[in-house]
Formats: sequence, C-alpha cells, structure tokens
Amino acid sequence: MSRSLDRAKNAKQDEFYTQLPDIENELKHYRSHFVGKTILCNCDDPYESNFFKYFAGNFNHLGIKKLIATCYNGSPVQGLELPFPDENKNGKQAFKVEITEVKDLNGDGRVDLSDIKYLIQNDKNVLTELEENGDFRSPECIELLKEADIVVTNPPFSLFREYIDTLMKYEKKFLVIGNQNAITYKEIFPLIKNNLLWLGYKSGDMAFKVPDYYAPRETRYWQDESGQKWRSMGNICWFTNLDHKKRHEELILYKKYTPEEYPKYDNYDAINVDKVTDIPCDYYGVMGVPITFLDKYNPEQFEIVEFRKGNDGKDLVYCIIEQNNYSAILQNTRPTMQGRRTDEQSKGYCSERQKQICKNTYPQYGVSSTAIPGLIKNAEGRIGGRITYARMTIRRISK
Ligand SMILES: C[S@@+](CC[C@H](N)C(=O)[O-])C[C@H]1O[C@@H](n2cnc3c(N)ncnc32)[C@H](O)[C@@H]1O
Repeated sequence: MSRSLDRAKNAKQDEFYTQLPDIENELKHYRSHFVGKTILCNCDDPYESNFFKYFAGNFNHLGIKKLIATCYNGSPVQGLELPFPDENKNGKQAFKVEITEVKDLNGDGRVDLSDIKYLIQNDKNVLTELEENGDFRSPECIELLKEADIVVTNPPFSLFREYIDTLMKYEKKFLVIGNQNAITYKEIFPLIKNNLLWLGYKSGDMAFKVPDYYAPRETRYWQDESGQKWRSMGNICWFTNLDHKKRHEELILYKKYTPEEYPKYDNYDAINVDKVTDIPCDYYGVMGVPITFLDKYNPEQFEIVEFRKGNDGKDLVYCIIEQNNYSAILQNTRPTMQGRRTDEQSKGYCSERQKQICKNTYPQYGVSSTAIPGLIKNAEGRIGGRITYARMTIRRISK
C-alpha cells in the first residue's frame, strides 16, 4: 500500500479543502479587521490551503502585518503531491511559513500567485520546520497562536469543540468554518448565548475538494473532469467573534401574534414559532424558534433567554405539567406565581424565596429543564404532550 493510502487509512475524515471563492465571499465582510494584524491559519498547509493563498495574495491590499500558516503532518496530502523543500523530501515534516512582506511586482496591491518559492525568496519571509507535528494544540503552535491577532481557517471537524475552546482560552479573534450542528453543542451554545461567538455571513451549502482516498457516496459527492473528488454539505456556516454588518441588521417582522397560531409549551412559558419569518412582531414574551434563527440574530433586537436562573446559576423553569403539585407549592408565594412566570421573573429579578422554590421543586416534582440554557432540544419541549423540534429561546428587546 502506498504511503499516502497508509496515512489516509489512519486519518480522520477531516480533509475538506475550502474553495477560494467561498473564502473571498466571506472574508470581504471583515476587511477592516485585518489591517495591521497578524493572521494565523493553523490548519493550513501553505502549499494547498486557499486560506493561505487568499491572505498571501491580498497581503498588501488588506494591509496585513504578518501571515503565519502551519501545516499538520497528520494530513494525508501534506507534502506529497506538492513541491516541498529538499530537506523535507519524506513529506512528513510539519512546518510553518511566516510572511511579513509580499513584493508587489505590478504595483496593483495584489500578487496573482501565492507561490511559496517566490514568497520565501524574500529574506523577510521564512519557511521553518516545526519540532512537533503541527497540531494546533502543540506548545509551539500555541506560541504562534499567542502571537496572532486573528485566526482564520477551516479547522478539522472532528476537533471543533477543542479548537474553539483553545481560541477562547487564548482570547483570540477568529473566523472559522464549522458545521451548523456545532451550534447546539453544550460547549458552543453558551458562547453564542453570551455573545462571545456568533455566525458569519454565509450559512448553508458549501462544496469542498476531498482527497482521492475518500470513498464515493450516494449523495453530495462527485468527481470533476480532472478526476478531483468533491463533497458538499448543506449545513456549513462560519463562526466568528469579529463584528460584522449583518449582525446589526434588523429582522423585519410582520406576523401578528395569536394564541391559536403560536401555542405555548406545556412545560415552558414560551410560545412556539415554527419558522423564523413567522416570529410575531407584537409578542414580547419568550419564544422557541428554530436554530436557523441564529443566521438572523441581531443582539440589539433579540436576546437569548435562559429558562432557569436560580442562585445556583441555572435558569428557572415554570412548569404546568405538574400543575397540582406545583400550584400547591406556589400557594405560599406571591399570587403572580400562579399560572405564569412574570416578566420580572423572566429577567431574573425574582425573590430569593421564589428562586428557592423553583430550585427545590425542580427535582421533587419532575419539572422539565433545558440541559443547555437557552436551548430546547432532545425531547425537552412538549406542546399538547407532543415532543417539539429543537428550538432556541429568545425574546424581543423592547425599544
Ligand atoms: C477541514 S480541513 C481544512 C483544510 C484547510 N484549512 C482548508 O480550509 O482547505 C482541516 C485540516 O486540519 C488538519 N488537521 C487535523 N487535525 C489537526 C490538528 N490536530 N492540528 C492542526 N491541523 C489538523 C487536517 O489534516 C486538515 O487538513
């Protein structure tokens, strides 16, 4: 078996190579962020990554201070098909490229080809072998992360949680590709809820080149005329903590609230909204909306609401499933607690006693709770006894 296949066999299905137009279409919205900054692409073989090509090609145009790309030696294509310095002939050595000057030959602010050989002829740019394997978690890659201002890449899907965790730990700005499924990860959603991470511009379909060893599939797979294999996914999005214009655009709402069209959950004081475009314009209580809402989320217009916010830091749940038991407990409290959570409570202003009651009744009376505050998923929500789809819980911010 060839070395390439050997390595591929052990590799995870992480080799999805991003197309240049997808990178250009997204990154054009963030240009002002890149000026004077050190950009790190830490899952990117400079010889094949279009992220590296984009930043090297637009180095002067974007006014970047420094570009660093690191190459992971676990990549099955790394250094095999592509030109590689002689001393690395075995194709297994991870390396980094650091670019601080791109000579603008024709004076138009761009270089047409991010030819590494050409780039490293310049004494200000260096290609250096890494001591370890180029894993973004390795100490030498962490040193590069510390040096960077902004990290931009498509990281390995299988390590997405850990990848984001590393960026957050070092308080980095970032713009990275991921799968929409990651939104509901317990490690990711709290970041979204707390406005530490949000979606970029494009969500939905994206096609990626994949290595030759990837097996054909029934759907979302093809080979082009050159024999190159492709896969596409319908649920790709960009995750970022760089501000952008779309995040401040108001979602236009036109539908009127009626209790018939927007039933309440049995176990949460929130109405269910099936389509983002159907969010009522005149409802200011809590709403369960599809996760795709995030693509339209403007934090000046909406907030993501927790359901339990007791003094244990968890959000309060109002339950009407266990009506009898619960009412009995609530009789000792203010009358407003009977039947519905008040606005006061929703904002977390309930008295310590009320908090205590909600907290104490929770295990005792089997009150439902959301495992991830702000999300209703995995059969947590019911309407008329029937389980609902995954929803995030939001509320309009009154003006
Ligand atoms: C989804 S691919 C994207 C590649 C490239 N960034 C692009 O967008 O075309 C993820 C890349 O991360 C590499 N990778 C896998 N594990 C890694 C790790 N622990 N550290 C750094 N890179 C890793 C894979 O080999 C793969 O090339």
